[in-house]
Amino acid sequence: MEKLYVVVFILAFFWVHGEIANGARTQDGSEAWGYVEVRPKAHMFWWYYRSPFRSQDPNKPWPIILWLQGGPGASGVGIGNFEEIGPLDTFLKPRNSTWLRKADLLFVDNPVGTGYSFVEQDDKNLFVKTDVEAANDLTTLLIEIFNRNESLQKSPLYLVAESYGGKFAVTLGLSALEAMEAGKLKLNFGGIALGDTWISPEDFVFSWGPLLKDVSRLDNDGAQKSNSLAQQIKQQLDTGKFVEATETWSELESVISSSSNSVDFYNFLLDSGMDPVSLTASELKRGISKKRYSRYLNSLRPSPGGDGNIDSLMNGPIKKKLKIIPDGVQWGGQSDLVFSALEGDFMRPRINEVDELLSKGVNITLYSGQLDVICSTKGTEAWLEKLKWDGLKTFLSMDRTPLYCEDEKITKGFKKSYRNLHFYWILGAGHFVPVDQPCVALDMVSRITRSPAASI
Ligand SMILES: *[C@@H]1O[C@H](CO)[C@@H](O)[C@H](O)[C@H]1NC(C)=O
Ligand SMILES: *[C@@H]1O[C@H](CO)[C@@H](O)[C@H](O)[C@H]1NC(C)=O
Ligand SMILES: *[C@@H]1O[C@H](CO)[C@@H](O)[C@H](O)[C@H]1NC(C)=O
Repeated sequence: MEKLYVVVFILAFFWVHGEIANGARTQDGSEAWGYVEVRPKAHMFWWYYRSPFRSQDPNKPWPIILWLQGGPGASGVGIGNFEEIGPLDTFLKPRNSTWLRKADLLFVDNPVGTGYSFVEQDDKNLFVKTDVEAANDLTTLLIEIFNRNESLQKSPLYLVAESYGGKFAVTLGLSALEAMEAGKLKLNFGGIALGDTWISPEDFVFSWGPLLKDVSRLDNDGAQKSNSLAQQIKQQLDTGKFVEATETWSELESVISSSSNSVDFYNFLLDSGMDPVSLTASELKRGISKKRYSRYLNSLRPSPGGDGNIDSLMNGPIKKKLKIIPDGVQWGGQSDLVFSALEGDFMRPRINEVDELLSKGVNITLYSGQLDVICSTKGTEAWLEKLKWDGLKTFLSMDRTPLYCEDEKITKGFKKSYRNLHFYWILGAGHFVPVDQPCVALDMVSRITRSPAASI
């Protein structure tokens, strides 16, 4: 929108650990953004949107959502914001279903090297190698943003994650709680929502063959090939060969692609936009999942007029608006390096972290798109059943409640809650639930965050 180009900027300089870190905000305070140097020479970018629907009732605090994108290496500031839940789409037109209707939104380019975040001189040692290292950087970011702002501290913060972001969300949840207990971080922790998240890679790879066979996308031979590679991955994980497991995962994706005539890993009703011939081994090793990810979202975009291309948007008008992105920083320029640095942790499960959070009484919501392959509902249910949480048995035995949206009579999903565990099954959605089913996703996020705007 034109608004984007005419906002007046106040460049504010914040004092951070004795150094100057810069940030900026719009004059009306509706947006703020900046960099935090989370470690020397490692710079993390964040962007906060204040909801125009924000209410002031102290008995009903207005929530903030921290959106954690997947990849690893996919940009929350770009993809989550402009392609999924932010106030504007990639044509800079208002998004009707923006989650700002229910909460303030905080986007972050995590881990460092993602989106506008960067490490100096492409220094390989500065990228995170584990989810836990990423969580530590995010905790540092939260300390810088929340500790200095009493108004933000009053709002409950919900971590909402997609895809690989789920592994960051649960490790961040634990790290943030620890920092809060130690008096280092001041915030009001609301809970965690995990949407189609990669919590247990083993359970997902075992789900792919049977699921795709059941929906006619693989034949017996394809399903068998898939299962035998999943077995190989299990052995590698059992013996701590995590890098090898990542390589076998790549191989498994390419076997499924060729046996299924290129099913889309993010929605089994679709074909991947990708030519299987270009699936070279070298491309596979270098973060293929991230490339598929943006291709899928590209394929969903209506393309009348304008340029909806996310790369040119983020490296063009948005960079210009933000003003503080250093000249040498290309949006997304280091994301392949982010993926490679995490290849030893990519296949490591984070079920124990979910258990730990549940036992601490944190509200955990899982939501799952019916048509997703990569983080399938089948795989999510499989890892859920591995929880040691003492409420699990009751949870599994309970009935589900159907979900509808607005005046529609058609079933849009199902929901179940017991104590602090909640599960939403979202029908007709693939991996990117807010994109595929915006109405029911918005209702869901309103309930998760107990938004005072529930009735808007
Ligand atoms: C989005 O727009 C449609 C009409 O264009 C309207 O019916 C619907 O209520 C809107 N959704 C929300 C969440 O406001
Ligand atoms: C901090 O607090 C003020 C209100 O006191 C608000 O205007 C501002 O946007 C807040 N958020 C950030 C991220 O600075
Ligand atoms: C968890 O969610 C439920 C239902 O929304 C709420 O009543 C409860 O207070 C929440 N618990 C915590 C610890 O936030």
